[in-house]
Amino acid sequence: MSVRSVTILGSTGSIGKNTVDIIRRYPEHYDVKALTGNQNVSLLAEQAKLLNAKLAVTADKSKYADLKELLSGTKVEVEAGFDAVVQAAREQADWTMSSIVGAAGLLPTMQVIQRGGTLALANKETLVCAGEIVMKAVKEHQTTLIPVDSEHSAIFQTLEEEHRPMIDRILLTASGGPFRDKDVAFMEKVTPQEAVAHPNWNMGAKISVDSATMMNKGLEIIEACHLFRVPVEKIEVLIHPQSIVHSAVGYKDGSVLAHMGMPDMRTPISYALAWPERMEAPTARLDLTKMANLSFFAPDENRFPALRLAKQCQKTSQSATAVMNAANEMAVDAFLKGKIGFLDIVRVSEKVVESSPLPAVATIQDVISLDHEAREMAKHYIAERMK
Ligand SMILES: NC(=O)c1ccc[n+]([C@@H]2O[C@H](COP(=O)([O-])OP(=O)(O)OC[C@H]3O[C@@H](n4cnc5c(N)ncnc54)[C@H](OP(=O)(O)O)[C@@H]3O)[C@@H](O)[C@H]2O)c1
Repeated sequence: MSVRSVTILGSTGSIGKNTVDIIRRYPEHYDVKALTGNQNVSLLAEQAKLLNAKLAVTADKSKYADLKELLSGTKVEVEAGFDAVVQAAREQADWTMSSIVGAAGLLPTMQVIQRGGTLALANKETLVCAGEIVMKAVKEHQTTLIPVDSEHSAIFQTLEEEHRPMIDRILLTASGGPFRDKDVAFMEKVTPQEAVAHPNWNMGAKISVDSATMMNKGLEIIEACHLFRVPVEKIEVLIHPQSIVHSAVGYKDGSVLAHMGMPDMRTPISYALAWPERMEAPTARLDLTKMANLSFFAPDENRFPALRLAKQCQKTSQSATAVMNAANEMAVDAFLKGKIGFLDIVRVSEKVVESSPLPAVATIQDVISLDHEAREMAKHYIAERMK
């Protein structure tokens, strides 16, 4: 196997750490170009030393001196600031993991698409904000894009491109999050601590809250529409509390091809790293004899209105999904800081989408401007909910 150059954008996050955990096992196979993080510079420095990275970048300029100090006496170059993250993404690498959280991942991911190489995409917000523009660029630059989200990795593996006209529907599974069985009165009072405690997956705070509101599944519906070129009507969300079936594709002959595995992100990350081959991943093997009960049921959109909102936005326009995403990011942040209640997250997002004129977006710069406007509007509705 020849040595492949690798960059990890967001190496200090949950996906980033899992990616590092795989790459560190094969030092002879990977040449690590750049690692980027934001606040957690001690972990970033540790990872850079462990992987012998050429460059470590923190998006936070105020952390430059700390990172420099932590990496003194090593050959690792140090940079800081968001522009330096974008620059690191622009540098050639054979394989790049895009795992920054939120719309902050959009510009760095676009750099990867434009410069070529394989893009392993975990940052779903990139497609939610700008899927049409991003997928056009993927086509134009002939980028190899491998989805990392476990559901999309599952669909990628079970969707038979040569039988596309025979696809009946995509079954997108969802754990249902920690409040799957809870009523609205309960959810009105939940704390950030309760919301981030996901039953099956150990993830970053933002995606954990998104899973609890089920906005994560809404974002994934939009992500799937762009990745697999299917209309929103063809995507059926299924609550599957055990998170063993990661998603499935149903065909018009009645076949349903499902992908199964233990809930461990190192499986889809390894798949994206090895594609088109497969590699051994350090994960537990699925024992179906121990899975006495795999259950599936339809989601309740009255208790989880984020699903309805996301579908509506996807049907409306690219601007609507970009606005929804920005409002959701702001509202999740406000919830995590204790400023608004759990159910206010979707209420704020709905208000912002309703109030935005939703101007058409043709470029990434248009999307970024619209994202900023939506964040300003979200601040207003967050302040209103705080009264
Ligand atoms: N976690 C999962 O299992 C999972 C599964 C499927 C998809 N995803 C998707 O993968 C992405 C990452 O999720 P995660 O759970 O790994 O998130 P996370 O644990 O919060 O990590 C986010 C990463 O982004 C960095 N970051 C945060 N803000 C930044 C900014 N403004 N500029 C540059 N870097 C920034 C963080 O740096 P610091 O930590 O140093 O501050 C960290 O490296 C999300 O889009 C999520 O939806 C995650």
